[in-house]
Amino acid sequence: MWLMQMLSETGEDTTKQSGNRVSSFLSRRDVQQAIRAWVFWAVTLGGLGYLFIPHLMADSASKTMDIVKSTFMAFYYTSVPVAAVVLAIATQTVLHNRHTGTAPPPDDNPAIETNQMANIVWVVISSALCVFLLVWGLVVDNVVAEPSRAANATVVNVTGQQWIWTFNYPDAHKDTSELYLPVDQPVIFKVQSKDVTHAFWIVQMGIKINANRGEITETAVTPNKIGVFDVRCAELCGLLHAHMQTRVHVVSKADYEKWLANQGSVEQWPAS
Ligand code: CUA
Repeated sequence: MWLMQMLSETGEDTTKQSGNRVSSFLSRRDVQQAIRAWVFWAVTLGGLGYLFIPHLMADSASKTMDIVKSTFMAFYYTSVPVAAVVLAIATQTVLHNRHTGTAPPPDDNPAIETNQMANIVWVVISSALCVFLLVWGLVVDNVVAEPSRAANATVVNVTGQQWIWTFNYPDAHKDTSELYLPVDQPVIFKVQSKDVTHAFWIVQMGIKINANRGEITETAVTPNKIGVFDVRCAELCGLLHAHMQTRVHVVSKADYEKWLANQGSVEQWPAS
C-alpha cells in the first residue's frame, strides 16, 4: 500500500522535483560519507571472501561439490552489497553522528525523515538480489538432483549407529565399513540409523543427509575423481561423534568390478 502511495506521488509534474531531490540527497555530506563507507565495506568484504572462502571449502570430487562451492560464493557476493549498506550506515553513524563534548545530549533528537527514492532503490535492488538467488537455487537444485534420477545408478544402503558407518551393496550382497564407488557412475544412498540421529556426509562430494531411526532418507551423487575421500557424521550424536568417520575409495570401473567380486574383507583391499 505504501509503495502504491509512493509511486502515485511521483506523477509527471513531480518528476523534475524528484530529480532535484535525488541530486540534493546525493550531495548531502552524510550521504556521501555513507557512500564512501559502502565502497570501503563492499571492497573489503568482497576481497576477504575472494581470498579466504575458497580455502575453507574442501577440494571437489563431484559436480555437486562444484555447485555447492559456486552457490556458496554466489550467495556470499550477493549479500556483500546489502551487508555493506548496513555497515556503511553504522560506520557513518559512529564516526560522524556521535555526540561530542561534556554536556548531555539533547532529549529530543531530530525526527527521522523518510526518503522515497532511497526506499524505492532499496526495495527494488534487494528484491532483485533475492529473485536472482531464488532462480539460482532452482536451477542448481535441478542439476544436483540428476544422479538421483539416473536409471543406471548404483544403490548403497548406509547405516549409521553410535559411532560407526556401515555400507551394504544390495546387488552384490556385500557389507563393508569403507565405501567403494566407481568413478563417473551415479550412486544413490539409502540412509538410516540404528539409534540416534546421525548425518551422512561425504565432504568432498558435497552431499549430506540425516540418518534417522525408522526412516530411510535418500541422497545421490556422481563421483568424478579417483581417490580417497572423507565420510563423516554431521549431526551431534554423542561422545564419539567427532570420530564417527570413515573413507570412500573412488576407483575405476574395472577396479570396482574386481572389488565387488573379491569376497575378502575390505581391509585386504589396497587403498587406492
Ligand atoms: Cu553420528 Cu555424529
